[in-house]
Amino acid sequence: MHILIINGPNLNLLGRREPGIYGTRSFEDYLPELREAFPNLELEYFQSNHEGELIDKLHEAGFKHHGIVLNAGAYTHTSIALADAIAAINSPVVEVHLSNLAAREQFRQTSLIGKHCIGSISGFKLESYKLALHYFEGTRPKRVG
Ligand code: DQA
Repeated sequence: MHILIINGPNLNLLGRREPGIYGTRSFEDYLPELREAFPNLELEYFQSNHEGELIDKLHEAGFKHHGIVLNAGAYTHTSIALADAIAAINSPVVEVHLSNLAAREQFRQTSLIGKHCIGSISGFKLESYKLALHYFEGTRPKRVG
């Protein structure tokens, strides 16, 4: 099963960025651990700080991958374009966040993308990605292309 993990803006700085909130480990460091934990999933990874690139990637993957795990970073709260892209594609998308958005600023408590996703996982730091992958491992959704 082919799953794409997408990280949005500022997540390239994971490990160095506000470590008290987002942790001390980079995603690149974590990825091999994810691959080892999910040997039955073919995991692809993409990160971009640019809204249009994230949308292009959703369009490209969204008619062929079995699923997408998306941490859209701050675009979660602002991007109608990203929400429209998720609504437009066929692949199921799971929204993930490292921090617990419910415990943070008011402006982080609105997700524009959430309603187009299968569900949302928030607050488990890097474990949030594992929880999302458990969903895909368990559901074995049909190929969508
Ligand atoms: C985040 C939460 C967002 O509000 C923030 O803008 C991020 C990271 C998270 O993973 O907790 O960049 O998506």
